[in-house]
Amino acid sequence: MSAGSDVATARAFAASWNHVGEGPTYTREQFLDWMAPLGPQDFAGQQVLELGFGNGSHLYHVGSCGPSRLCGVELADTLETARRNLRHLPPGLVELHRGDLTQVDLGQFDLVYCIGVLHHLQDPYAGFQAVLRHTRPGGRFHCWVYAREGNEVIIRLVEPIRRLACRLPWWLTKYGLALPLVCPFYLYAKGLARLTQRAPAWAERLPLGRYSLWIAPRPFWFFHHVAFDQLVSPRTVYLERATLESWLRHPEVEPGSSYLVFRNGNSWKFGGRRRERSG
Ligand SMILES: C[S@@+](CC[C@H](N)C(=O)[O-])C[C@H]1O[C@@H](n2cnc3c(N)ncnc32)[C@H](O)[C@@H]1O
Repeated sequence: MSAGSDVATARAFAASWNHVGEGPTYTREQFLDWMAPLGPQDFAGQQVLELGFGNGSHLYHVGSCGPSRLCGVELADTLETARRNLRHLPPGLVELHRGDLTQVDLGQFDLVYCIGVLHHLQDPYAGFQAVLRHTRPGGRFHCWVYAREGNEVIIRLVEPIRRLACRLPWWLTKYGLALPLVCPFYLYAKGLARLTQRAPAWAERLPLGRYSLWIAPRPFWFFHHVAFDQLVSPRTVYLERATLESWLRHPEVEPGSSYLVFRNGNSWKFGGRRRERSG
């Protein structure tokens, strides 16, 4: 698959990241939840790489965990935005590159992560191979993707709108579509969180219930950003458990080191260690 095929996706995300407002988009709590089972101690003193860093929101939080080197690559024109968000970090710590993660060779790192990117690539498996390629033997990798499981409502209702929306000017998608569409979901999530304060297990049985409880504490602008992100991308795939299990059987993944965690009822976190020595 040609690497150039992700250029349209990157252009769409530049519109998203360059108009979301300054500072990290995610709270520290959200960052920790995305990274678990990795914790702050796993980043301390490590050489860390993020593939597809957007506006640098995860790098912002990794920066506070004491890495020895913090590197990122992104295809979209968001380097200035990310640099502004990371300007508080020690000089020389951060290296940001513009490029296609499936093509670049940035060397090998102790820890490589890729959050919310693989499901937007023309060739998600090529993205996973890039994650492994950049992880040193014995190093760790961690990814997060949209699941096919639990996203039936999104696939049926939102995906047809996305296919149309991604052809419109970004501002029309953001303010003409994402804004009105997210209002009922905002009310649903906030209402659900309130109604089920004492019995969250009940909410989890409803469509997008667990996800709604996760997003409910955030303000309206975050809901709007997530809805825009969902609609602006020309390419989104939803990955099944079986697909990720087959990826994790890659000969470069250390047997017994891998994990696959269903998150918020609609996404997968997975990772492991790269084999110490190639077989
Ligand atoms: C949903 S955003 C996630 C950004 C960030 N990881 C986060 O979680 O906030 C997906 C990002 O992947 C980037 N991207 C898509 N294809 C890429 C490629 N082939 N190489 C590098 N970055 C890519 C997009 O430009 C976009 O910024």
